[in-house]
Amino acid sequence: MSGPFSRYPFDDLGATEQASLPERPSVQGQQPDIEANDAELLALQPSALFLLDQAGILIRLGGNWQGVTGLRPEQVLGRPLHQFVKLPPSSHPQGLYAQSGVCEEASIGRGGLSKRVRLVWQRGEGGTGGSLELPGPREREIYERSEKLRRAEVALEQTITCLGTTLDTFQSHHVKRMVSYAVRLGQAYGLSEQDLSALRWGATLHDVGKVRVPQHILIKTGPLSAEEFGVVLQHPQWGAEILGQLDFLPDAARDAVLHHHERWDGQGYPAGLREDQIPLLARIVMIADVFDALTSDRSYKTAWTPAAAGEYLIRESGRAFEGDLVRLFLERVMDLGYLYGDQASTL
Ligand SMILES: [Fe+2]
Ligand SMILES: [Fe+2]
Repeated sequence: MSGPFSRYPFDDLGATEQASLPERPSVQGQQPDIEANDAELLALQPSALFLLDQAGILIRLGGNWQGVTGLRPEQVLGRPLHQFVKLPPSSHPQGLYAQSGVCEEASIGRGGLSKRVRLVWQRGEGGTGGSLELPGPREREIYERSEKLRRAEVALEQTITCLGTTLDTFQSHHVKRMVSYAVRLGQAYGLSEQDLSALRWGATLHDVGKVRVPQHILIKTGPLSAEEFGVVLQHPQWGAEILGQLDFLPDAARDAVLHHHERWDGQGYPAGLREDQIPLLARIVMIADVFDALTSDRSYKTAWTPAAAGEYLIRESGRAFEGDLVRLFLERVMDLGYLYGDQASTL
């Protein structure tokens, strides 16, 4: 056997396994008790040492195995290391199959009781040798802080998604559908994962500013007075203000919320931006928003068919909406590209 561990015994083995270790050749000219020294050296190792066979099965353990991992040797010997040690997604796909490596964010343990460890490994002819170390106090502090932040962000994301989708039942279904339209349009456009994430946020929260619009205005079925309408027109700014307090949200998501009522011809609100001045994500959100509003039942109208809504988007291309985006939406997301053919034949 070769590799970094072939010369060393492993101190945590039971008596039987110790006895079955292969004899190591004595080295000429070295002290006769060198193996005893090696054993002592290993017994004092602060890391957990392991050796895997070619199939990744744990065949030997050493060093401070139990102290570092919290797992007894008999629980793990004869089983694959990957049952106990997890690598973060960034280490995949190669992971432990790489010739050698260091992973600062591996975790070991089972169920919810896993802890973070530093994993170092090297493959040799006979298998893979490696070690696991607990992080030092500073690394542990940094890790715990980032874990806390990550958990807070997940909780906040769930809370905000709830807020965006529970204004009322109608709003909840509307938001779910239009987020799906917006993301599919963003994918058809070729947005990066990062932009798609910002788009998802922006679409989910596009009307969150309506929490500041008095309920009697929101549920009014008749026409709004000029004053009431003026209040409703504030909702994009209010939404952006609310989101401005959430540092982790990308700016692009806030911009999408702020500008989701801008029109391509500059006649929208709140800023009266036109064409390319309007952030791309806001242009996408607007198309998804209007298409879903048209194809849904509302208190003042019945749902339009998708084709009728598609024709409306085409008619308003270059006025309310960006024509290229409408075309992409109808052709690639809604499968309504034929509407352009019908229109061409009537020209
Ligand atoms: Fe809105
Ligand atoms: Fe909406």
